[in-house]
Amino acid sequence: MDYKTILENIHASVQPYSCVGKVADYIPELAKVNPDKFGICLNTIDDGDYSIGDSGERFSIQSISKVFALAMALSIKGEALWSRVGKEPSGTAFNSLVQLEVEHGIPRNPFINAGAMVVADILLTSFDNSAERYLEFVRALCGKDDICYNEQVARSERETAYLNAAIANLLKYHKNIDCDVEEVLRLYFLTCSLEMNCHELARAFLAFANHAEPFSYAGIELTRSQIKRMNAIMQTCGFYDEAGEFSYLVGLPGKSGVGGGIAAICPMRYSVAVWSPRLNSKGNSVMGMKALEELTTITSESIF
Ligand code: DON
Repeated sequence: MDYKTILENIHASVQPYSCVGKVADYIPELAKVNPDKFGICLNTIDDGDYSIGDSGERFSIQSISKVFALAMALSIKGEALWSRVGKEPSGTAFNSLVQLEVEHGIPRNPFINAGAMVVADILLTSFDNSAERYLEFVRALCGKDDICYNEQVARSERETAYLNAAIANLLKYHKNIDCDVEEVLRLYFLTCSLEMNCHELARAFLAFANHAEPFSYAGIELTRSQIKRMNAIMQTCGFYDEAGEFSYLVGLPGKSGVGGGIAAICPMRYSVAVWSPRLNSKGNSVMGMKALEELTTITSESIF
């Protein structure tokens, strides 16, 4: 497969969408990003690395961070994790409060904000230095030891996080958070603020694409079966109330973030990361989704 030419063609064919959508501005620091950025990087399981555009520029990974946090929590808790968080698609926005109240503080899945806060609580109770352990794990996954949190983005989010604070408090009310609410929010926002580029994200996600290799990074181990299950959750829950649309258009397990990034995998073939900050109304990158739709259409490489 000539991925280099395919990515060049995709880059050209997504141009008509270059002004569609809006940068996330509910986190003031994120509103400062240049909306015209576009980068994509594809890693094959035999070590190929193909890229185009602004693939070397780091951006705020936001909710893509929830995949790494889930990997850690699943490695620590195993199946017991699912007594505190579900594994069903939510069909609601990532920051919806309504469902959480109706379902008595058990979040639908680990990729909506409520679920990620429960996961953050598990990491806090499992490690003395959870923020450092998380960073160590993602650094090992992507093979780069200089990726960092952006404290300014984390602080900026906390200052305006009225809805996320309400979610955390509701979880605490239902006794699904053990730690202090403020500590949970701090770790959650910090992990969301992690900055990576498309190469680093594609490399990190390759571990979820390559079932043949043992998953063991910085002391976090997953079985082959657990990786399969993580991919299932990415497939069904990775795009909130647009999970069906992403499945239909792209057909890959993946995860989006309001920084404009999307990372996805094709089992035993490749991982791919794309970045374009303009988002649709569901909080997913417009050009990112279009690019991945093109990729699986041109290559016929998807899980379907
Ligand atoms: O909690 C938030 O609202 C952000 N830190 C993350 C949201 C996000 O990335 C949703 N993904 N599309």
